This record gives sequence, C-alpha cells and structure tokens, in this order.
Amino acid sequence: MNNHPNHIAIIMDGNGRWAEAQGKNRTYGHEKGSEVVRSITTYCAHHPEVDRLTLYAFSTENWKRPKLEVEFLMKLLQKYLTKELPTYLEGNIRFQPIGDLSSFSASLQKTIAELKEATHHCTGLIQSLALNYGGRDEIIRAAAALQAAQTPISLELIAQTLDCATDVDLLIRTGGDHRLSNFLLWQTAYAELFFTNTLWPEFTPDELEKIIQKFKKVERRFGGLH
Ligand code: FPP
Repeated sequence: MNNHPNHIAIIMDGNGRWAEAQGKNRTYGHEKGSEVVRSITTYCAHHPEVDRLTLYAFSTENWKRPKLEVEFLMKLLQKYLTKELPTYLEGNIRFQPIGDLSSFSASLQKTIAELKEATHHCTGLIQSLALNYGGRDEIIRAAAALQAAQTPISLELIAQTLDCATDVDLLIRTGGDHRLSNFLLWQTAYAELFFTNTLWPEFTPDELEKIIQKFKKVERRFGGLH
C-alpha cells in the first residue's frame, strides 16, 4: 500500500462542548480551537506527505448561531489571520481561502485578501480555511459561472471552477458526529473518512499522525477492483 494523504480536510467540531464541560462560555472553546488550527497547520507544513490542508472554519449555515457567537467568531478570525502571518511565512505555507467571502465585512475581506497576497509566494503546504463555505453553495456558484461562460461541461471543468479543484484523500471529523455537514461534497467523492470522539480543542498532531498511519494501510480502489 502506498497511500499519501496529499489533501487532508478536517471538520473541526466540539469547541462549544469542550468549553461547556469546563463551565466556560462557548467562545472560550473557539479561542482554544484557533490555537489547535495553528498547531495542526504547522504540523502539516512539516509533514513530507501532506500538500494541502483544508479546515472548515465557518459554514454557510453558521450564520444561524446567536449573534454574539457569530460576532465573536468574526473577531477571532480577524485576529487569527492578522497575528498568524509569521506562522505562515516561517512554515512556507500558502493561504488560500475557499467559500463565498462577499458576505463578510469589508475589513475582514481585506484581512483575508492581505494574508492570501502575503503568502502567495510560499511553496510548501497550501492551507485553506473554508469561510462562509457550503459544498452546495460552491457547486451552485460554479454551475452559474459555467452557464454564464456557455462552455461544454466536463468533469475537469467543473472541478477547476469550484473553489477547490483538488480531491480530498483523507477527511477527518472531530467531536463524535458522523456526517459531512455540507463540506467539500464534490471533492470527497473518494475520500477516506475518519471520525474521532476527541473534541477539536483537544485534537493533537499526535492523534493526526495516528490517523494518517491508519489511512496509509487502507486499500483505495476508486470504484475498481484490486
Ligand atoms: C465547531 O464547534 C466549530 C466551529 C463553529 C468552527 C471552527 C472554528 C474554530 C476552530 C475556531 C476559529 C477558527 C479560526 C481559524 C480562527 P462547535 O461550536 O460546533 O462545537 P459543539 O459541536 O461542541 O457545539
């Protein structure tokens, strides 16, 4: 078996429950969760087999959360994207956001664009944060773009028109639930799915490496026979 986890995608779930279990506000869990985003990203940047890491940071459905929680998440994102520039540059990490960014405030859009621009030259890991992202929304936006361009449809063209053109090899969800929650619906067609009960604030590079080692033992057939 010679599987490489080239593209890892993670549904980072369990921040709220982790905080509540300690009698703290849910926002405390998001704050700790953002530190785990940094440690997992840095680990992947130094991993010889990982080229791309896509993290579900804010879904098209997350706007339904209480106003205060949404506002906190927006501020946390703004802080993270500003403060972590050295992490990206030191790790040679290129930041490539996915999702419909047009719903964010002008200032958050500017911060997102600045980090993208500042890391454009980086040649190591590509880290994508999925921001106001939904798999169905991504497919609808791509379909509309292809309709406007009036080009013949092909698998390659659809893939290239999506926010993310690269298939996922390994999808991980923390927090104990077993669902995709509208994440990378097209790109996970042949992904291996791993679920862990660990809540995102407690997820570690060590657990990630154990999952990668299990992934490498899986026989992937892509619909064929071996
Ligand atoms: C799920 O926890 C997490 C999210 C809503 C999105 C992930 C956000 C972060 C990891 C923090 C911010 C990220 C960055 C990059 C600054 P939940 O609130 O659904 O947890 P629960 O299922 O226990 O309620």
